Amino acid sequence: MLSREENQLITQTDRGTPMGDMMRRYWLPAFLTEEIPTPDCPPVQVRIMGEKLVAFRDTSGRVGLVEEACAHRGTSLYYGRNEECGLRCIYHGWKYDVDGRVLDTPAEPAGSTFAERLRHTAYPTKEIGGIGFAYMGPPDRMPLFPNYEWAQMPTEHCYVTKSYQVCNYLQGLEGECDSSHLSWLHRVFDPNQHHLYKADKAPAYETEETDFGMRLIALRTVNAEETYVRVSAFCFPNFCALPVGGGDHRLDGFEVHFYTPIDDTHSWRFDFGFKRSRAVTDADVHRRQQLGDDHKRYANADNHYLQDREMQRTVNFTGMKDFLVHDSCATESMGPLFDRGREHLGASDKAVIAVRRRMLDAAHAFERGEEPPHMVTDPELNDFRHAESIAEVIEGRDWHVQFPHLTSTVEQLLDQRDLVSRA
Ligand code: FES
Ligand SMILES: [Fe+2]
Repeated sequence: MLSREENQLITQTDRGTPMGDMMRRYWLPAFLTEEIPTPDCPPVQVRIMGEKLVAFRDTSGRVGLVEEACAHRGTSLYYGRNEECGLRCIYHGWKYDVDGRVLDTPAEPAGSTFAERLRHTAYPTKEIGGIGFAYMGPPDRMPLFPNYEWAQMPTEHCYVTKSYQVCNYLQGLEGECDSSHLSWLHRVFDPNQHHLYKADKAPAYETEETDFGMRLIALRTVNAEETYVRVSAFCFPNFCALPVGGGDHRLDGFEVHFYTPIDDTHSWRFDFGFKRSRAVTDADVHRRQQLGDDHKRYANADNHYLQDREMQRTVNFTGMKDFLVHDSCATESMGPLFDRGREHLGASDKAVIAVRRRMLDAAHAFERGEEPPHMVTDPELNDFRHAESIAEVIEGRDWHVQFPHLTSTVEQLLDQRDLVSRA
């Protein structure tokens, strides 16, 4: 349960709010590479963090993410012409490059220096594994992109979708910190599937604070000798690494689910995954079948998530297709911004509570002028492969013994690893 003030603090992300300004200090997923696939292709509108932006890929392949409203008189640059290394406004032809420089103001008299004195809002971007990340914070505070394992993967080993969520980002993010819902929301009645979730419907949770955020460990009893361990990682500011993609088998990679606010009552869910040993296939991107070209799900609140009551009786717990639809129904049906003063948290919510507390502590500290957690500035210390996700059946109960690398600090890991070989 959160007080009204704390609920506001953790859910509001417009510029000028503590959480909004803190989130802007990180690299945030903003769009997909496939939305602007080729040089000089049409620009796309990007709505994140309460801001209206346009992303475009210029003639040389560089990506710009700029304020949508033209600096002249505000016409949308989404309608602009993407030509010769810049985006040109259709109203009077002002032209911008990816860094927000005004290259041309053709309606001004020859010799005018007007353009040189202007700078349009433009955010630095980075493309990793099919996601366009943006840095929207102060230019002199831009951190390095953390070297997570997933961020090192060749693009053909990665898959990603983005989906529109009609609720605050935190409702989605909290679903990722909640292993117990696997045994219910995502339950299928086929006795040959997901037997490990079903074996123990009340997992024990352990949480621990880490340099990247929180490690979340769900422990399910398999039998007297064995434990099913699922390790997830909450990483600041808005995502979790999760053991998804292996069924009941050992994982060949994992998924990372990000929640970028659109505004305080809508969000983008980015579902990224990778395979260590192989290129991905269409079958890995099953979520795409749930989504239209506008990144909205076909199954949504307006059609009751296409729930089939007969299917709910005989096939699975929800009567809905695909995990994405289950999760979206669970989190959107709370309403666009849930009042966390009304909830009743139990033992199964231990990880949700821990992540919230860590985020709130960070936001309070940020308000006092402290640096946010997980700001990576030293290339020598940039190794976050321990922000990892694992799902395995182990002997006994002590997962620390099985996965000793998970509990090491960056400094300890650097002693064991050769960073240079990864450069
Ligand atoms: S409004 Fe864009 S050039 Fe005038
Ligand atoms: Fe889920």
